[in-house]
Amino acid sequence: FSWLERQIVVLNVVGSSPTGHPYRKSLQIHICGDFYYPSKKHKTINTYMSKHDNCRKHTSVLFVCLGNICRSPAAEGIMTHIVEKNNASQLFEIDSAGIGPWHVGELPDRRMRSHGADHGYDFSTRARQICIDDLHRFDYIVVMDRENYHEVAAMAASQEERDKIHMMTEFATHHPSHSVVPDPYYGGDRGFELVIELLEDACQGLFEHVLRKSGGL
Ligand code: 4NP
Repeated sequence: FSWLERQIVVLNVVGSSPTGHPYRKSLQIHICGDFYYPSKKHKTINTYMSKHDNCRKHTSVLFVCLGNICRSPAAEGIMTHIVEKNNASQLFEIDSAGIGPWHVGELPDRRMRSHGADHGYDFSTRARQICIDDLHRFDYIVVMDRENYHEVAAMAASQEERDKIHMMTEFATHHPSHSVVPDPYYGGDRGFELVIELLEDACQGLFEHVLRKSGGL
């Protein structure tokens, strides 16, 4: 079951006790995620949810850029920071990947790490290449520019998978004039600073978007 498919099932149990007395009992079972729970104490699913975070929808997000050493690991680090700051780690799975194989296994670019550290972030995930299964496995595939978008869209096996692909800037609220997160690799310091500025805005927007979608805001 997924979160959206959670159900409340009422079982009407009719039988007889070990001593032979007939009994009739109405038992409510909430099915949520991969488990169910009886509802004696928690009258509604919301009161149960407020006490048990792992009952809420788990949303998986994959950030994608060209090399997975500048923009997408920075997005992963910033999103992780926002999620942890909001005590929402149990609700998210966050990862990043690159279109190309050139930097697989490497740490993020030294300049990206250094600019990240200036803003209090630790970008230290290892690069990997996106694979076909990622489009099936992740709920959101968030790309940095139009080239990334076309590359990932070409990997999609269905409209459902294509619909998971979003531009990072879709979620930004303070940078309306930026339609992409520009590749900083061949540029200077200002490019890396701009990446962080855009990603902080867009990751906050994505975080709020996911919470709104799952009923948490
Ligand atoms: P990213 O930046 O896609 O943000 O990781 C780049 C990293 C490496 C290269 C290009 C862009 N490269 O050409 O190796």
